[in-house]
Amino acid sequence: MKVLFVCLGNICRSPSAEGVFREMTQATTDSAGTAAWHVGKPPYGPMQEAASRRGYDFSDLRARQFTANDFEAFDLIIGMDDSNIADIESLRPQGNTTPVKRLTDYAPEAGMDEVPDPYYTRDFDGALDLIEACAKGLKAKIG
Ligand code: 4NP
Repeated sequence: MKVLFVCLGNICRSPSAEGVFREMTQATTDSAGTAAWHVGKPPYGPMQEAASRRGYDFSDLRARQFTANDFEAFDLIIGMDDSNIADIESLRPQGNTTPVKRLTDYAPEAGMDEVPDPYYTRDFDGALDLIEACAKGLKAKIG
């Protein structure tokens, strides 16, 4: 199973989802951003610091942009909000049926329909709480 996490910049939410989920799965994981602004950069410093207080190390990750080829390269694509999903779907190749889900679909008990972007909210711990809950739900579904 190959799972791709996607957000806007690929420096806050999707690398965090990748970094949390890769600790608990045998699946192949990656992350990407719909925008190209931060290509080549490591995850955002304050995000890494909050994650490292919980024992995660995301420092090896580097931002890249989501491409249409990702529909062929991954079995499951997971966006952080509806804007990500719309941007992802706009690149879907004709005939491709790769599922595209919201991360919050995997933690319905949290009652959230998106992962709020901590780049703007500055609530890095709140984002990590939600991402951890969703990663557990995803693990329960796909292993
Ligand atoms: P992300 O957060 O999509 O969770 O990586 C963002 C990071 C940077 C920007 C926007 C969102 N930005 O505008 O630079």
